[in-house]
Amino acid sequence: MAVTIRGKLLPLPILQGGMGVGISLDRLAGAVAACGGMGTISTAVGGFLEPDFARDPRGANLRALERQVKQAKAAAKGAGLVAINAMVATTQYADSVRTALRAGVDAVVCGAGLPRDLPGIAAEVPGSDAALAPIVSGGRAAALICKLWDRRYGRVPDFVVLEGPLAGGHLGFSREEAREAQAGHPKPLSNLLREVLEAVAPFQEKYGHDIPVFVAGGVKDGAEMRQYTDQGAAGAQFATRFIATEECDACDGYKQRLLEARPEDITIVQSPVGMPGRALRSPLIRRVEAGAQPKPERCIKCLVPCDYKTTPYCISRALIDARNGDWENGLFFCGTNAGEVSRLSTVREQMDQIMDEWRNAR
Ligand SMILES: Cc1cc2nc3c(=O)[nH]c(=O)nc-3n(C[C@H](O)[C@H](O)[C@H](O)COP(=O)(O)O)c2cc1C
Repeated sequence: MAVTIRGKLLPLPILQGGMGVGISLDRLAGAVAACGGMGTISTAVGGFLEPDFARDPRGANLRALERQVKQAKAAAKGAGLVAINAMVATTQYADSVRTALRAGVDAVVCGAGLPRDLPGIAAEVPGSDAALAPIVSGGRAAALICKLWDRRYGRVPDFVVLEGPLAGGHLGFSREEAREAQAGHPKPLSNLLREVLEAVAPFQEKYGHDIPVFVAGGVKDGAEMRQYTDQGAAGAQFATRFIATEECDACDGYKQRLLEARPEDITIVQSPVGMPGRALRSPLIRRVEAGAQPKPERCIKCLVPCDYKTTPYCISRALIDARNGDWENGLFFCGTNAGEVSRLSTVREQMDQIMDEWRNAR
């Protein structure tokens, strides 16, 4: 079931969700795209491995991003598409989008805030024809962004990612909604999908093309993806299950923690981004809850809403520590499906499994 996005073919209806910091870089994204899906590089503090990161973090992030996009595109060999995930709440949001577009990325996907000005930023890069997509948490946000882009820029999203309350990382829902969803209350993703499909329908008609909607957040497998595609979704975005692959850019320590995680180890944290987030209950989380976490000593000003004088911890540092496998100091983001990942695999195995399950669920 191929999907056409801004005139480009996506052979498989599978997106790999962006995972910052450093969990989905060019290696994972390139491998997913090489299999015919959409691989996504997270732009969040992606230059942390550059030799001059401590001295010039902003320059290092953009230089690394340019290289990562080019490497992922080379690895994809034209099979699938390469995207970036840029969080609106980051101070380098617009710079990251411009850098990735110049490097030839196929799609720009933006969450952690509504990307109201994304088409304007993209228009500053002549010749770029990348697909632009917001991540939304329901029909209201989808309608708002379609109206805004239509009115201001004469265009609409090329696709939409609908992320429900079972996702990993930052959530566009309250702590209570996230907890209730995790406690097994009736899954709202299909209700949210209905709303989003209704919201985009008038704009599809006005512009005469599809606005494919991909569901994300706790989608277990290809059989569940089938339920959503039967309902009108173009496909699904997966993230947590791609962490336990050989190609994932996280260190083995992160993958190991995920493999060992049980459902009761997953918790909701309040992130310095100002949103709740889903993560493993690591020692850092316990220290923050107990008020025992020392304040950060250094700030690279990566997030618009974060004030280092009041934040309980530096989220970029904690995510880099997690990526490096540091259980004591890391913030280990994960989705509700973390407890179900039990074996290290490869991207190819994951993609084949999802597609087999999807076909067999007919
Ligand atoms: C470790 C991790 C990091 C994430 N980081 C980001 C991020 O930087 N930006 C973003 O928009 N979403 C982020 N997400 C959300 C995913 O892209 C994705 O939409 C969601 O987790 C999909 O649900 P699943 O993990 O249950 O498959 C993250 C998820 C995980 C597990």
